[in-house]
Amino acid sequence: MSLGTLVENDKRYAEAFKMFREASDQENKMKTWILQDFSKLIKSTFLLKIEQNIVEMMGIGSGFGQMDMHLFDVIGNINHKINELVVEPNVVEIEKFKSSIASSVEYSNVTLDILIVSVFGKKMFGNQWRYFPTGRDIEEIIDGLGLNYMTDVINSKLDISECVDGNSDNGKLLLDFITHADYFSERASPELEKAIFEALDSNEYCFKEDVLHG
Ligand SMILES: C[S@@+](CC[C@H](N)C(=O)[O-])C[C@H]1O[C@@H](n2cnc3c(N)ncnc32)[C@H](O)[C@@H]1O
Repeated sequence: MSLGTLVENDKRYAEAFKMFREASDQENKMKTWILQDFSKLIKSTFLLKIEQNIVEMMGIGSGFGQMDMHLFDVIGNINHKINELVVEPNVVEIEKFKSSIASSVEYSNVTLDILIVSVFGKKMFGNQWRYFPTGRDIEEIIDGLGLNYMTDVINSKLDISECVDGNSDNGKLLLDFITHADYFSERASPELEKAIFEALDSNEYCFKEDVLHG
């Protein structure tokens, strides 16, 4: 049986991503970065260059907008209107993002222009198995435009304990997110599954005990 591609299954992707966020400390790390580092940066450099009261943002793969909303919190605090162009293929995620913005008064300063990209069967960013733009791909595009920019790397840990139990639905979702293949454990060959577990075991960012939530 051949492997399916997770980004082609919007609902399963949304569930797998939720599971990934629960099993990792990525959300906290990113939130802390936004509230501390980004907040300082925007006050010290970026703000000085803004002549109008409108901040134009672009979100590449914003998902359901969790991180974008933290960014809005920081930018909105200094009384700016925000226009964000969101490039996102997942309709389930984008609908969630739109309804969060529409239903909360604190984001009444935010306008979203949604661009739904199709990733179905398209060769993107390198080869047919690479649907995702990596940070490096985006840097290359910005380099090509001759723009100045700064980058930062935020490392986070992932608890893979659930994956060890072959019957755990949460473990299966997490494995789907890690491999970007939907229903990976049902469809992968035993050799491939073994290779993935070996790779996870030797990855410095993966661990198997629940120290994040304990
Ligand atoms: C790991 S999620 C991150 C979501 C969000 N940035 C966050 O941190 O909460 C990656 C997102 O990229 C989207 N994505 C996948 N392929 C894409 C592509 N070719 N262009 C833009 N977004 C893409 C996925 O649908 C998904 O919502």
